Amino acid sequence: MNLKLTDIHCHLLPGVDDGAKNMDDTKQMLKIAAADGIERIVFTPHIRRPWLDRPWSKVTDAFEQVKEYAASAHPGLELYLGSEFDYSRTILTEEPHQLHDISGSGIILLEFKPYDSYDRIRDGIQQVQMAGYDVMLAHIERYNIMLTDIDLARRISELGALIQVNADDIVHPHSFKMRGYMKKLIDRHLIDLVGSDAHDVKFRRPELSKAYETVKKRAGAEYADYIFGGCADRILKR
Ligand SMILES: [Fe+2]
Repeated sequence: MNLKLTDIHCHLLPGVDDGAKNMDDTKQMLKIAAADGIERIVFTPHIRRPWLDRPWSKVTDAFEQVKEYAASAHPGLELYLGSEFDYSRTILTEEPHQLHDISGSGIILLEFKPYDSYDRIRDGIQQVQMAGYDVMLAHIERYNIMLTDIDLARRISELGALIQVNADDIVHPHSFKMRGYMKKLIDRHLIDLVGSDAHDVKFRRPELSKAYETVKKRAGAEYADYIFGGCADRILKR
């Protein structure tokens, strides 16, 4: 197996969003991730207005601080910087400098509200694509409309967007509907990437290994390796 277990979506940087509150939190979360076998982490702090109005330099400063710490505490761990963009037409058109892709790949991790319509999600993806980026749709299973029809995920894929799901929703789907939906996504190979979307050490932890085993058991090692590392290889080597 040539898998580099990769967390493509998480909130581990200290004090920049609703994830790790401080460096102590970050240290604990890195320890959990490393113990879980995670070898690569892409930090994806929220970009969301007006809730978060901070200069991007605050994020890059936090990233440098964490890199410096991890270099000695977890020397094998590879760290990358991205963001999670809460879709906003205003930011896209009036403040495009607010957008930050995943480690220079040209890919934007894009999120919507749970109650957004399919049309709004599709239009948002296309707007970001027209701005010159590729799109990774964050946690597709969190949008209520998606759970009503598996075909909508195929349509998202056909738009050329990558589809990300949260590890915890694979391991502990919070409803029967979600359980069925996750099985369909896996069986039809509609998932491209899995992230922890970790925010803390208690409820939303930076762990992927259980979800990896679940997917491997259901769909085989080749597909599991792809969505937990192989697809990220391509993105991070862009
Ligand atoms: Fe997130």
